Amino acid sequence: MYVNMKYILDNANRDGYAVMAVNSVNMEMARAVIEAAEEEHSPIILQFGVGQMSKLAHPTEMVPMIKAMAERANVPVCLNLDHGPSLEAEIDAIKMGFSNVMIDASSLPYEENVKRSRMIADLAHAKGISVEAELGHVGQAADGDGKTADMYTNVEQAVEFVKATGVDALAVAIGTAHGKYPEGYVPVLDFNRLAELKAALKMPLVLHGGSGSGEENIRKAVAGGINKINVCTDAFHAAEVAMKAKWEAEPNTDYLNIMMTAEKAIKEFVRNYIRLIGSNNRYTFEAADNGSKE
Ligand code: 13P
Repeated sequence: MYVNMKYILDNANRDGYAVMAVNSVNMEMARAVIEAAEEEHSPIILQFGVGQMSKLAHPTEMVPMIKAMAERANVPVCLNLDHGPSLEAEIDAIKMGFSNVMIDASSLPYEENVKRSRMIADLAHAKGISVEAELGHVGQAADGDGKTADMYTNVEQAVEFVKATGVDALAVAIGTAHGKYPEGYVPVLDFNRLAELKAALKMPLVLHGGSGSGEENIRKAVAGGINKINVCTDAFHAAEVAMKAKWEAEPNTDYLNIMMTAEKAIKEFVRNYIRLIGSNNRYTFEAADNGSKE
């Protein structure tokens, strides 16, 4: 069932759990992620950004393929444009059939972020496509950005932002960062700020940079009101570890077996993560019918 993200996240917000958004950059990953969701009876979000689309996840092939997989799936599936950087990228994604777009104007001045997010929300909503925006800024782990409290989301500003833009979900900066943290580092999250944001906004909140955050942090983030967790680095890593082990155990293994090993490892990783963030066994057929985009 191909649905927009609002449908998935409004349910998660109402019932207090989070849904994974996995950067799924090729057919094997997309299939692994959707199959994992089906086996766990969980809604799921697949996504990629423009950088990934220029390398592997070529949208001309990937979008129709994921839509076809989603239509066949017996759980709600959304395809999100991750970190849309420009009006052109957003319009392309809307035309190509993504069911949610994220507009990321979080490094621009506040007024510009409002203006762009409002414009994209108007465009997308007219087509039944939902919208995520970001306020505050989630940076790169490699730059030590997760520790920079002046990038965190301001609660009063967030209330004003959501009112002014009409976005369906808000990515908040509370201490995580994208990519790989230095060895042994676990981010310290500002759970008080998350509680204040949730109390003030009462809407679906998104955590970027889910990788390397530690299970305890992730559990607390979900309990504190996060409804979507973006995971990229850890999903790739699960495949890399399995592929290396396969190669070591069977140096003559072939391409097909390596690809199948990667797919299996991603599926297992996603199934475990789904259970960690509580979206397993949340799906009902009756509920999904209302959210279908087509
Ligand atoms: P990680 O690679 O840190 O999981 O971040 C993914 C992400 O937030 C994509 O938007």
